[in-house]
Amino acid sequence: MPQFLRLGVLTGGGDCPGLNALIRGLVKRGVHEFGHEFVGIENGYMGLVEPELTRPLTEEDTRGILPKGGTILGTSNKANPFQYPVQENGAWVDRDLSDLVLRRAAELKLDGIIAIGGDGTLTIGHQLSQKGLHVVGCPKTIDNDLSGTDQTFGFDTARAICTEAIDRLHSTAESHDRVMVVEIMGRHAGFLTLDSGIAGGADVILIPEIPYSVESIVEKIRRRGRRKRSFSIIAIAEGAYPAGGTLAVLDKAGDIRGRGVVRLGGAGKVCADLLAGHVAAEIRVTVLGHLQRGGSPTASDRLLATMYGCKVLDLVRDGQWDSMVALRDGRIVTAPLSESRKERRVDPDGEPVRFAKSMGISFGD
Ligand code: F6P
Repeated sequence: MPQFLRLGVLTGGGDCPGLNALIRGLVKRGVHEFGHEFVGIENGYMGLVEPELTRPLTEEDTRGILPKGGTILGTSNKANPFQYPVQENGAWVDRDLSDLVLRRAAELKLDGIIAIGGDGTLTIGHQLSQKGLHVVGCPKTIDNDLSGTDQTFGFDTARAICTEAIDRLHSTAESHDRVMVVEIMGRHAGFLTLDSGIAGGADVILIPEIPYSVESIVEKIRRRGRRKRSFSIIAIAEGAYPAGGTLAVLDKAGDIRGRGVVRLGGAGKVCADLLAGHVAAEIRVTVLGHLQRGGSPTASDRLLATMYGCKVLDLVRDGQWDSMVALRDGRIVTAPLSESRKERRVDPDGEPVRFAKSMGISFGD
């Protein structure tokens, strides 16, 4: 393997703060230390299927992007080459275009691909590795739900935004004696809601890992009332649901290519509707939505992302394809890309939940 390589870089899945910091660290170290050449692949794996979605990625392109949210390469969470939507006879059908991806990578003369993404993007990277493509990965997601790593970048920033939102909601809750329900992202994992709920001083924290009972929440709000606390803050994860109930799905929207996409959303409203009539206070719902993953990354996320970007080049240098960088016990280490398939969940019996309960925070159980 020559020392100077030509490497493709792509970002897949939902955008998150820190992606640009990673790209910058990667390109800077790659150019300065190894003399690598980088090719930017736009819109995730779509850039390896559709024509004209690749471009040179130089150090000049990374100037000034460290504090910027989003990704300069664009992203897509609907471009799985193994199930790629194509139009045939006027209808959209899924086709396996993974061989085309391999051919395109060869045409582009790529020695390897650096895939930055969550479970979907990294799992596809692993599947492509199995077919012989040289892929290494960097885990990202605000949900922090990847089992191969202790923390993903993007999470710290989203957690700070959610915490600030809960802080701000206290003003209206206290002034108007209201129950404020705040709905927080995270898909099927409650990490973001748990951490920001504790950090923001929520009275009730509802997470997917602990189905909630309305009676238990009502009892908590009444207990607060007896202690002359006339307002309450409920932090609820978008994936939380009442015991015996189901996930709140915002819509089953067909995207432009006709693929059905299930979007979580509405858990806050479901909870508010269930509480209505059982508590005297007015109940209002705030959905934080994409505010949670926008804007500038925190110092901690910039640092983690930059370290990932630099470290992944060690994996490339050592030919450790089909691997990803990961954070374990404060150190950046290497893990198999296949680890990204395993999802992580909040441990309902773990210390954060136990300590929160010991302080009187209700989890609705
Ligand atoms: O995985 C990150 C995430 O923000 C989830 O928390 C959320 O459920 C999902 O992406 C929303 O995705 P989209 O922006 O595609 O609707």
